[in-house]
Amino acid sequence: MFKNIVVASDGSEGSRKALKLAAGLQVTCKSELLILTVFRHHSLLEASMSMVRPDDPEILDDVMRDHAKQVAEEAKEMAVADGAQKVRAFVKGGQPARTIVKFAEDHHADLIVLGSRGIGDREGFLLGSVSHKVTSLADCPVLVV
Ligand SMILES: Nc1ncnc2c1ncn2[C@@H]1O[C@H](COP(=O)(O)OP(=O)(O)OP(=O)(O)O)[C@@H](O)[C@H]1O
Ligand SMILES: [Mg+2]
Repeated sequence: MFKNIVVASDGSEGSRKALKLAAGLQVTCKSELLILTVFRHHSLLEASMSMVRPDDPEILDDVMRDHAKQVAEEAKEMAVADGAQKVRAFVKGGQPARTIVKFAEDHHADLIVLGSRGIGDREGFLLGSVSHKVTSLADCPVLVV
């Protein structure tokens, strides 16, 4: 039924639940499973941490990209351990929700799977800002786990 499933992974407990479900769907539907982890560019980080002004902001990007790669690769290993095949892991820089939606469009995704909450997981909100925005912006169905 689903040919291309995008699962958004930030390494959180919520995204692990989403990944498990997406891996199960991959097996059932024999889909392509595309894991995406988005890191924020230093310009986005600086906007939220105005005290931070590293001499070479590129270094921050490298650290964020490396961490994102690790998160995406770990997610891929988990999906494969759950029996999923045709799994690929991707890393992109940018604003998480918009980047997830654009990536899904570019890869002709017919389903996006993501956790209801992520690493932010503060009390008082049922949905995180990324899951909220992706459900609003995406053209394809979105499964919030
Ligand atoms: N940077 C990211 N890269 C990939 N997927 C992400 C990213 N951030 C969030 N997600 C996905 O969105 C889901 C919900 O996370 P979200 O960020 O909306 O919640 P939160 O971290 O609890 O809240 P907030 O970020 O608004 O403080 C995660 O479980 C994950 O599937
Ligand atoms: Mg978050």
